[in-house]
Amino acid sequence: MDMKNNMIEDLMISNSTLAIELTINDKHYKLQVNPMEKLVHILRDQLNFTGTKKSCEIGRCGSCSVLIDGELANSCLLMAYQVNGKSITTIEGIGIITHDEVQRAFLKEGGFQCGYCTTGMIIAVESLLKKNLNPTEADIKEALSGNLCRCTGYGGIIRAIQSVATSD
Ligand code: FES
Ligand code: FES
Repeated sequence: MDMKNNMIEDLMISNSTLAIELTINDKHYKLQVNPMEKLVHILRDQLNFTGTKKSCEIGRCGSCSVLIDGELANSCLLMAYQVNGKSITTIEGIGIITHDEVQRAFLKEGGFQCGYCTTGMIIAVESLLKKNLNPTEADIKEALSGNLCRCTGYGGIIRAIQSVATSD
């Protein structure tokens, strides 16, 4: 039996749904999910974390980016049961009271136009800056290589990140 089947067996199966528990933005949730349900759909449609966007749904655009146990992930590529027991951070968990430094920098530098990619971009930047507080332009481009923007041409986005990275 492969690992995926073992994971499903470990979960309580009830009326074709799986019982999972997870933490989102420091709050604990117990959910019943369909085994075929993607994490991005649970976040948006069941829990109303609509800051997490969906677009390509095949892992190409990064609009659905979240942090899972601190690591960057595309929530469209994960089934909800695969995050059982994990801790997830969505854009709603970053800068809850005021915009955080990265979000303020995006505003100041014109790092978005329509804004559809922005929440995924900011999640990716948070992931980058956790590991590297002084990224080079090449580091920034690499970190954002999974996040597409159809509006900005990336100049404002890169300036925003550089302004945060060099502001220490
Ligand atoms: S919607 Fe997930 S990568 Fe595009
Ligand atoms: S600001 Fe429109 S897609 Fe990036």
